[in-house]
Amino acid sequence: MGSLDGKIAIVTGAGQGVGRCHAEYLAREGATVVVNDITDSADEAVAAIIAAGGKASAHKGSVADWSACEALVNGTIATYGDLDILVNNAGLVRDNMVFSMTEEQWDIVIDVHLKGHFACSHFAAIHWRNAAKTVGEGVALKSRKIVNTTSESGLFGGTAQSNYAAAKGGIITMTVVHAREMGKYNVHVNCIAPRARTPMTQAIPMFAKPESGWDKYDPTHISPMVAWLSSADSDGVNGQVFIVTGEEIHRIQQHQVATSVYAGKKQWTVAGISANKGVLFAGMDSLDVAPFGSPQM
Ligand SMILES: NC(=O)c1ccc[n+]([C@@H]2O[C@H](COP(=O)([O-])OP(=O)(O)OC[C@H]3O[C@@H](n4cnc5c(N)ncnc54)[C@H](O)[C@@H]3O)[C@@H](O)[C@H]2O)c1
Repeated sequence: MGSLDGKIAIVTGAGQGVGRCHAEYLAREGATVVVNDITDSADEAVAAIIAAGGKASAHKGSVADWSACEALVNGTIATYGDLDILVNNAGLVRDNMVFSMTEEQWDIVIDVHLKGHFACSHFAAIHWRNAAKTVGEGVALKSRKIVNTTSESGLFGGTAQSNYAAAKGGIITMTVVHAREMGKYNVHVNCIAPRARTPMTQAIPMFAKPESGWDKYDPTHISPMVAWLSSADSDGVNGQVFIVTGEEIHRIQQHQVATSVYAGKKQWTVAGISANKGVLFAGMDSLDVAPFGSPQM
C-alpha cells in the first residue's frame, strides 16, 4: 500500500530532472500521474512509469500558456474524474547580469515560473472550490495539495538571476497567499527549493556524481519530501517553505521584523533616521547585502 493510493496528480515539467523523479516516485506511491512537459520527454517519462507498473499519461504543452494550463487541469479531471495533487515544477534559466539581460530573457523566465505556477494553481483552485461547495454540511472535505518549486536564488538572491530570483521569490509569496486562500477548502499549499544534479545544474562542478559513496545530489533524493507534502501525512502543513537536498530538509522561517524605530507621532527626518541608525541596524556586522545562503547549510 502506497501513501498516495488512489490519488490523481499532475507534475509539470516532469519529462526530465527532478520533475521526472517526482512523477516516478508519486506513481510508485500509488498515484496516477499526469506528466506535463513542453517536450516529448513527457512520453518517455510515462513509458518508464508504466513499465514499472505505475499509472500515468502525458500532457504536452507549455505552462507559460494560460489555455494549455486550463487544458492540463481540466483534461486531467475529465479523464480521471478528479485532481488531488498539483506539483508545479516546470522551469528554466536564462541567466544574465542586470545590465545585460534582454527583455526576452526576462519574459520567458517570469512566464514559465511565475505565470506557469499561477495558471495551473488557478484552474486547480476553481475545481477544488466548486467541489467543496457540493459537499454536504458536516462532511469532511477531501485533502488536496499543491507543491510549488522555488529556489535558493528566490530566497537569497542569486547573482545574474534577476529574472529567476524574482520569479522564484514571487512563488514563495504566492505559496503563502494560496495557503491562506485555499486552506478553508482543505487545500494545503507548500513550496520546496530543491538542490540536485539535473540537466539544469549538471555543468556546475559541485553537482558531479562521486566515484563512490553517498551521491548527495542525486535528484531522486528530493521526491520523498514532495510525496510527503502530497500525502495525508502532511495534513495541516500549509504555507511552508523547505530547502531539500540529499539527506537534508531545512524549514525556512517567514520574513520577520528584525528591529524597529519610532518617530513618536511625527514624520521622520533624514537627520532623525541618521541618529537612529545604530538602533535600526543593531547587531549587524555589516550593512552590506547579506551573504548568499544560510549558516546552517
Ligand atoms: N536542479 C536544482 O538544483 C534546482 C535548484 C533550484 C530550483 N530548481 C527548480 O526545480 C525545477 C526543476 O528543475 P530541474 O533542475 O529538474 O531542471 P530541468 O531543466 O532538468 O527540468 C526542467 C523541465 O521543465 C520543462 N519545461 C521547461 N519549460 C517548460 C514549459 N514552459 N512548460 C512545461 N515544461 C517546461 C523542461 O522541458 C524540463 O523537462 C525548476 O523549477 C527549477 O527552477 C532546481
